[in-house]
Amino acid sequence: MINRRKFIQLGSLATSAMALSPIASIQGKNRLHTVKANQPIVISTWDFGVAANQAAWEILGKGGKSLDAVEAGVKVPEADLKNVTVGKGGYPDRDGHVTLDACIMDSAGNCGAVLALEHVTHAISVARLVMEKTPHVMLAGEGALQFALQNGFEKENLLMPESEKAWKEWLEKAEYKPIINIENESFNKERLPGNQYNHDTIGMLAIDADGHMSGACTTSGMAFKMRGRIGDSPIIGAGLYVDDEVGGATATGVGEEVVRTVGSFLVVELMRQGYSPEAACKEAVQRIIKKKPEASKSLQVGFLAMNKQGEYGAYALQGGFTFAVCDQQQQDLIIKGKSVY
Ligand code: GLY
Repeated sequence: MINRRKFIQLGSLATSAMALSPIASIQGKNRLHTVKANQPIVISTWDFGVAANQAAWEILGKGGKSLDAVEAGVKVPEADLKNVTVGKGGYPDRDGHVTLDACIMDSAGNCGAVLALEHVTHAISVARLVMEKTPHVMLAGEGALQFALQNGFEKENLLMPESEKAWKEWLEKAEYKPIINIENESFNKERLPGNQYNHDTIGMLAIDADGHMSGACTTSGMAFKMRGRIGDSPIIGAGLYVDDEVGGATATGVGEEVVRTVGSFLVVELMRQGYSPEAACKEAVQRIIKKKPEASKSLQVGFLAMNKQGEYGAYALQGGFTFAVCDQQQQDLIIKGKSVY
């Protein structure tokens, strides 16, 4: 399906006036793209979102549900051993345990999450089962693992040799600087031994042919984190939020800052007030800077959002944040998000 690859930097993706229209034009540097309401579309964070979107599109393109699409989509990076920030192969905590955080939310407002789940690659699928099979929203640690095993998941070793090697290199200095998610390449190379794939959370939002939106978010979290540390990714409202009347948002970067501002919920509420997706993401980033100006140049946070019309936008603190888009017109588009710095 995928044989075209585009990389563009978009200006403002949509005006708030467009947001009120069922058909909107998106002005890009290299293209004019028309969005039709209720046409399936999937977007996700980072370059690795391209492969994830392809898996989601296999479902969306055949008229499948957005919930099935986002689960299938984010399972791709979860299983990708080259990806050291999501799923199996993720970098461990500072004690050598790979612990996964994930959440999922559907168009009816149902949601499920797992926190610090060990020994199961597809944290997102366990999160979905929490949503569908329990009266709860979140399961953590041992309880989440027990629930997964009771539901047929196999216990696996998630610490892959490359990640173990990087962890052992890190242990030589064991500098605890929880600022891993800066997506600036030179910064990452300094901080992460041997890592060429230091991107962060995958957050995905999809609209299906029925016009319903779902979202998913999954990560192994901050590399070499304190044992028990949880970021934004499994927290509904922080790492992910979907309101089927308005749209959805997801976050990537240093989770603590996203949690402090309840970032994804904020983005959706701003879209409800008429902000375009990009403007809403920008305002959420500005709130982080306002609360913590001293940290704003030394950490990364990015937001990605899509409204009910299928208009999308992103904004990040630092340059280098990318996201991937897949719909009927383009299957492998990577867009460089705008940033403050
Ligand atoms: N955004 C991923 C984390 O902070 O864990």
